[in-house]
Amino acid sequence: MAQQCIHPSILSADFANLERELARIPSADAVHVDVMDNHFVPNLTLGLPVVEALRNVTSLPLDIHLMIEDADTWAPRYAEVGCESVTFHAEAARAPILLARTLSSHGSKPAMALKPATGIEPYLDMLGELDMLLLMTVEPGFGGQSFLDLVLPKIRRARNAVDDLGGQIAIQVDGGISASTIERAAEAGADTFVAGSAVYSAEDPDAAISALRELATATQRQ
Ligand code: DX5
Ligand code: ZN
Repeated sequence: MAQQCIHPSILSADFANLERELARIPSADAVHVDVMDNHFVPNLTLGLPVVEALRNVTSLPLDIHLMIEDADTWAPRYAEVGCESVTFHAEAARAPILLARTLSSHGSKPAMALKPATGIEPYLDMLGELDMLLLMTVEPGFGGQSFLDLVLPKIRRARNAVDDLGGQIAIQVDGGISASTIERAAEAGADTFVAGSAVYSAEDPDAAISALRELATATQRQ
């Protein structure tokens, strides 16, 4: 069985001590960084200068989740500073195919996110342009929300579509992932799991990562 990937979100970490907070998650498969602009979502977090600073203090892969309106302009900048993957929202991108190709040409894995109410069907023909599809399991904007079970059928449809293409595209879920929800998402077909509060509210965040990975690996879809 393939090992499932856990990407802790530093949205739930101590923003005054990010270098120290990264040192608490050495077994993370990547660090999930939530960039919010107070336009695409009603919250404001951090941007390129902070991501560049993170790049300088960690060798963990950086998984950038852009919740910003002007993704076409900004996403390539995150690729340029060495982020392993850059995720833009389908609802924000003006030219998603061109943007995915631009990210690839800058050496980053292109990924696209869908809000819970956005259907996957209009995007099926462009799946092959992506390294990862992010299916939001909460409305984007804040950590600590409850997992939306209504996204599970979309995860199943995405898994079928990805398998039809040869199974190379990762399916990431983000929002409300914890020990009590990760199995449902894994069973539906997700293979990459973002967890913010479930990791950083644990006394030992690295142990929480291992526990989540074990649950997901044991219940992944066959
Ligand atoms: C929400 C962010 C998430 C958030 C998840 O818009 O995209 O990455 O950090 O937090 P939890 O795991 O607490 O739901
Ligand atoms: Zn996120």
